[in-house]
Amino acid sequence: MAEIVIDGLGKVYTDGTRAVNDLRLDIQDGEFLVLVGPSGCGKTTALRMIAGLESISEGTIRIGNSVVNDVPPRDRDVAMVFQSYALYPHLNIFENIAFGLRLRKLPKAEIEERVREVARILELEEHLQRKPGNLSGGQRQRVAMGRAIVRRPRAFLMDEPLSNLDAKLRVQMRAQIARIQRDLGVTTVYVTHDQTEAMTLGDRVAVMKRGVLQQVGPPQELYDHPRNLFVAGFVGSPGMNLLTASLTDDDGHFRLRLGDQTLDLPEGLLHRRPALRGYAGAKVVLGIRPEDMEDAAIVGATEGATLTSVADLVEAMGSDVLVHFPLDADPVVTEDTRELARDVGADDTLSAGSEGVVLVGRFSPRTHVFEGQDITIAVDTERLHFFDPANGKAIHDHESQE
Ligand SMILES: Nc1ncnc2c1ncn2[C@@H]1O[C@H](COP(=O)(O)OP(=O)(O)O)[C@@H](O)[C@H]1O
Ligand SMILES: [Mg+2]
Repeated sequence: MAEIVIDGLGKVYTDGTRAVNDLRLDIQDGEFLVLVGPSGCGKTTALRMIAGLESISEGTIRIGNSVVNDVPPRDRDVAMVFQSYALYPHLNIFENIAFGLRLRKLPKAEIEERVREVARILELEEHLQRKPGNLSGGQRQRVAMGRAIVRRPRAFLMDEPLSNLDAKLRVQMRAQIARIQRDLGVTTVYVTHDQTEAMTLGDRVAVMKRGVLQQVGPPQELYDHPRNLFVAGFVGSPGMNLLTASLTDDDGHFRLRLGDQTLDLPEGLLHRRPALRGYAGAKVVLGIRPEDMEDAAIVGATEGATLTSVADLVEAMGSDVLVHFPLDADPVVTEDTRELARDVGADDTLSAGSEGVVLVGRFSPRTHVFEGQDITIAVDTERLHFFDPANGKAIHDHESQE
């Protein structure tokens, strides 16, 4: 086991494509770090550089005590698990797991013992004599994991290992990977484009965009204190509602104007984020998490903390109800939101006008809201997020955060 220290890591492919730019990460011994970001942001490239499968253009990678830039993959003592878990079809499961150990000419008894132990951990004991073709997708993925675990490497490197599985299996395997990693305590770098997977698996999550690290921290910290618009919009499902608002200072009462509606900024919030005062008379990007809105018919309406609209779409999820409603406010169009729109396959020309925005509120299942109904939405204004429209950075005070 070992820490992995990545310093100033960069990759420029021979065709000139810059895939990774000045990546810095200190991954602790035994830590589960998830690298997440939209397709094409450089996750695989970064992981392959750690594994030694891709040459390093800039910077250094240290595993344990040694810089491994020039160390061939087989000598780095790391095990990689890929999305496509190429198993040897003609070998049974025992032999598939044992393969790497046989190559290393380990004693027969030790191979037997190690494979049995891994099979027990992965609940594959009954399948050891079967061929991969006779196993389910989930079982095959566990065999691929087994091949990595059995080597007892210093680190696991996993590249979207669950993306070929169906949704239900993915959730099961996710829990299993988390448990195994905890039990074995092996430093793990796990790559995914799925933010839910990232949030549920990682001790810490590193969010990348176009080759550049945006933020790294524990999942809850990323969720509660996204450093910029990209992280704010990428983490969470449904995502944070983002809209443009004008901040006004009426004799010391700070208000947000969203079209013809207003929200009052609570004193406490201004106290925590004094930098907001500097935006009086200017526009800010306002972020509201869906769960920070509720049907006012349930929680009551507080003056200065409500919005009114019409329910456009009501989605009952069982545990909560997602209510979509339009607001006559300006949408946010920045490089970050375009990148987010691209990621979900949305046509960003749709949000390019100023025809208003559609917000999503996560209401209690006790709501009786129906589509087409006039609604009053209670907003937890203490929990609002703010970003600078010019650079997309969170408006917060540096003393109070990091
Ligand atoms: N062998 C290569 N040659 C040139 N460009 C590449 C190569 N492999 C990947 N890229 C480019 O590098 C960028 C990052 O790719 P990748 O690391 O695969 O991203 P991710 O795993 O996050 O989807 C993308 O723009 C991709 O097209
Ligand atoms: Mg990839």
